[in-house]
Amino acid sequence: MRWAVLGVLSLLCATGAAQGLWWGLVPNPTRLNIVNALTDFVPAIFHMQRRLVREPVDSGHRKEFDFVVVGAGAAGSALATRLAEVGDWSVLLLEAGGEEVPVMTIPFLLGQFHHTDANWQFLTTRQNTSCAELEDSRCDYPQGRMVGGSTTINYMFNIRGNRRDFDNWEAMGNKGWSYKDVVPYFKKVEDLRIPELQNRENRGYGGRIRTTYPPYFSDMGKLFLRGAREAGFPTPDDYNAGEQLGMHRIQTTTWHGARWSANAGYLRKARRRPNLFLRPRSYVTTLVLEGARARGVRYVHDGLEYEVTATKEVILCAGAVNTPAILLRSGIGPADHLKEVGVPLVKDLPVGLNLMDHTAVIATIGVLNETVAPSIPEIMLNPSTQMDYFTRRAGPLTSTGTFETISFHDLKGTPHYSPGWPEVEMLHSSINPAINPRFAALFRITRQLYDVILKPVEDQPVFISAIWRLRPKSRGKVYLLNKDPMTPPEIDPRAFSHPEDVDVVLAAIREWQKIVNSPSFQRYGARVVGPVGDIPGCGKVVFDTDDYWRCTIRVASVTLYHPCGTCKMAPPGDPTGVVTPDLKVVGIKSLRVVDASITPLVVSGHLQMTSYMIGEKMADEIKKEYGKTK
Ligand SMILES: Cc1cc2nc3c(=O)[nH]c(=O)nc-3n(C[C@H](O)[C@H](O)[C@H](O)COP(=O)(O)OP(=O)(O)OC[C@H]3O[C@@H](n4cnc5c(N)ncnc54)[C@H](O)[C@@H]3O)c2cc1C
Ligand SMILES: *[C@@H]1O[C@H](CO)[C@@H](O)[C@H](O)[C@H]1NC(C)=O
Ligand SMILES: *[C@@H]1O[C@H](CO)[C@@H](O)[C@H](O)[C@H]1NC(C)=O
Repeated sequence: MRWAVLGVLSLLCATGAAQGLWWGLVPNPTRLNIVNALTDFVPAIFHMQRRLVREPVDSGHRKEFDFVVVGAGAAGSALATRLAEVGDWSVLLLEAGGEEVPVMTIPFLLGQFHHTDANWQFLTTRQNTSCAELEDSRCDYPQGRMVGGSTTINYMFNIRGNRRDFDNWEAMGNKGWSYKDVVPYFKKVEDLRIPELQNRENRGYGGRIRTTYPPYFSDMGKLFLRGAREAGFPTPDDYNAGEQLGMHRIQTTTWHGARWSANAGYLRKARRRPNLFLRPRSYVTTLVLEGARARGVRYVHDGLEYEVTATKEVILCAGAVNTPAILLRSGIGPADHLKEVGVPLVKDLPVGLNLMDHTAVIATIGVLNETVAPSIPEIMLNPSTQMDYFTRRAGPLTSTGTFETISFHDLKGTPHYSPGWPEVEMLHSSINPAINPRFAALFRITRQLYDVILKPVEDQPVFISAIWRLRPKSRGKVYLLNKDPMTPPEIDPRAFSHPEDVDVVLAAIREWQKIVNSPSFQRYGARVVGPVGDIPGCGKVVFDTDDYWRCTIRVASVTLYHPCGTCKMAPPGDPTGVVTPDLKVVGIKSLRVVDASITPLVVSGHLQMTSYMIGEKMADEIKKEYGKTK
């Protein structure tokens, strides 16, 4: 209730000044100023609310627990909640970020909090095969830093992946991770509340993470479904039951028009247990090791350093960037690298290597000759959309930003074709983003790049389809700059450094063009947007040639936020593995990694459901291992 009141008050204050403005009558330069003011205002509400949200009352005196879990994100929240179901176990959950803030639960505002401390605000090292002409050639690399982790800032898409992804994990030697093995945990996570999708095999009902369709679905979203059908792609009604080819309306982890995070689904209830201790704003620096055994962790809270002990296990759930960083700082990692930065070696393991991600080309922009869906500012400033949201939890503020549909393609006819196992995903924006330089700068798009590609369509009804390879061959790494535990880790994703990844995305762009050329899109004169003048870094390439697209992939690609693989799971004895299939760190006692880092190969979906699944599955196995089966 308090949350709802805070939310309503803040948004009404924020836009109160704009009430009564009728967007269509506002001249363009003024519109831009309003959009900019809004971009500043949403984080301001965040900071105001942040001060009002109460933190849990844990005295912090207790120093010894059965389990110390580091990171209250997707996996950590699920794991800690389930471990604390065992009444005689004590579980400490340490989280670097603060409490979730109400304004962040309005789905449409996703992406507005990237420049607050709800995000670790990482940037990558300089890149030359992706992001190459973005600001400083560095890509933005968001990771959530809140109670709830990345699920408090993510885009809320519930997209599990393909049954073949997990069968392949098992084929790589990871016993117990086949689709058949993991599906019970996906089901345990999920509470699917879409009326048309009840009683489906492999879907979950009654789990912790609610899933719905946003109550709002624009005409542009419907146009994508029609266009895809005409282009020969199927549109089945559920992509989350194992098979996923074709174009789909996105299922979202939302409820009553609001974000449903790990905090909402797991911790809000579990934190009332007397044996679960949640300490926010507690940044873990290093492990406490006794020889090759993890005894506890050190963390910093309000500027003071603390040490806690785990009598059973320390479990790292800090995500694919921070988990390897904690291990490296503690002397667990590649021997030569640790020597370089002066951290005494405890165990030589390939920590931080095998970094995978989903990196998308974004120059795939189309334009229509008529407005089919409203634009972002029209939605945010319209008093009636606000009324819809706060009185009925309906209308466009319930939708996940600009994205309403996704499609999966197996690229039949290319060398990469594997029937039924999609090679690429496309995420289609159907709300017009109302392109402007400030908006572009959020993605580190430089003014030069903006002027050539985006400026010509500033005032027009555009749609952007982000396109990426689902299982890229490129690999990057996370490593340390120095041994100071307060220095952020370095991230070198090297997306598109493997030429095959570029070939696949190029083939996918040609598939996308079939949708743009479909009769339904052509009714609105749809066309692909080309540059005016030379694209920085591309020389004199001709628009729509293969070379043109290859270059745009290199200069203007962005992460779609699925880093993983940096503490790879592999069978015992495999030199590329950091953990074994029971997620124990090789050669170290009482230490596990349970988060997106363990992914041996990134899945053909988005990563939150997989991360929740990993947390649920390991909680079960740990209980079994200690004889606590219920
Ligand atoms: C912007 C964005 C959009 C996304 N969109 C989607 C989407 O639409 N659908 C989807 O399925 N997935 C999406 N994802 C990915 C998904 O949210 C993540 O893959 C998933 O949350 C990973 O879970 P995790 O448990 O590994 O890590 P996280 O959820 O990131 O949690 C890790 C937690 O550990 C904490 N932590 C880190 N270091 C320390 C430390 N030293 N001490 C204490 N605590 C620490 C962090 O603050 C964080 O709370 C998105 C991610 C981002 C960033
Ligand atoms: C990119 O940079 C790396 C070193 O950081 C270099 O080895 C490689 O040749 C460069 N590639 C291109 C395409 O410039
Ligand atoms: C848009 O283009 C289509 C196809 O060329 C045309 O029939 C239609 O009249 C155009 N609409 C407008 C508003 O120009």
